[in-house]
Amino acid sequence: MPELDLPQRQAPDSLMLTGFWYRALPADRVHRNQLHKATLLEIPLVIGRDRQGQPFALRDACPHRGMPLNCGKFDGENLECGYHGWKFDVHNGQCQLIPSLTADQKLKVDRIYAGSYPCEEQDDFIWVYIPDPAPQGAGFAPPTEAPDAAPQIEKFSSKYKLAYLQAEMPVSIDHGIIGLMDPAHGPFVHQAWWWRTQHSIHEKRKNFEPIPNGFRMSAHTPSSNSAPYKLLRLYADADSITTTIDFVLPNVRTETIRAGKYWFSSLTTVTPITRNHCRIDVVAAWNLFRWAPFVPNLLKFVFAKFVEQDRRTMELQAEGLKHNPHLMLIDDADRPAKWYFQLKAAHLEAKRSGAEIKHPMEGPVTLKWRS
Ligand code: FES
Ligand SMILES: [Fe+2]
Repeated sequence: MPELDLPQRQAPDSLMLTGFWYRALPADRVHRNQLHKATLLEIPLVIGRDRQGQPFALRDACPHRGMPLNCGKFDGENLECGYHGWKFDVHNGQCQLIPSLTADQKLKVDRIYAGSYPCEEQDDFIWVYIPDPAPQGAGFAPPTEAPDAAPQIEKFSSKYKLAYLQAEMPVSIDHGIIGLMDPAHGPFVHQAWWWRTQHSIHEKRKNFEPIPNGFRMSAHTPSSNSAPYKLLRLYADADSITTTIDFVLPNVRTETIRAGKYWFSSLTTVTPITRNHCRIDVVAAWNLFRWAPFVPNLLKFVFAKFVEQDRRTMELQAEGLKHNPHLMLIDDADRPAKWYFQLKAAHLEAKRSGAEIKHPMEGPVTLKWRS
């Protein structure tokens, strides 16, 4: 059989990429002077806010003997470990005090650091930058700086509303991400009488183009059976509505829909918690629905339903994945998934060699599928 007729085997790596910002916790769950636990890329973290409300993130293990710092005492500025009382500045992890030292012992306390991560609040979330693995001898290393700011939702007016949704999925980051960009599951997973049935399946053609570290579904009029489109039709002429969807490494999907002065924008991330566990966070911003205050709730209901359908599907899928079956990717419906794996490999190769990332797409491509 000619090789082209065969589907491609799916790479099973599920490596978690360091050197990027990740969403850790919704901002409204992190209160002043309090400590919260979180895990990112299998790294245990303690996250909190200082007295002024500034967020911080530390590795949840004391550099002395590994005691979880979340069990310590926090005074809004320094965190005191619960085992021997070493005190750390929460923003850079620098040790401030070792209570057991006598006056004539000259140990340089300020050269000791608890692991500390760049931390920012952006669009209702606390983001944490996970640097490339720290060199050996950490414990004496001040925190790495993030090379850029945490991702932001694009906004097109000064007044807007913001809302988020999250769901945990018992699958690897790769399955979470390719599930997010998969166009073919819609008619089977996202059915509802008030929404669409399997019978609304039809052929689609979409143009894609390479962008730095990712790819874009070029601006187009949204599918007649997509949710935001159905709502936006209430505001503007069908053909003045355009949507653009981007995927950018390591895990960011943004969607922008514009209809005249109205807009809807979302930034969805799939965050690796552990090797076999990820979390999807959808944050949306919009300037619509001022005249119909019930619409955001309706929209949230629809989105929550979608996310729950995806979550439930991945929970079932996890059962099937337990014994490492061989998997495959087909054209064109799984082409975005192939690009994802190729981008990830290209990114790792660029990092290894120090050369520019070699983008897997040579130029614009049109994909066709039925959904
Ligand atoms: S383990 Fe934290 S101070 Fe000893
Ligand atoms: Fe879905």
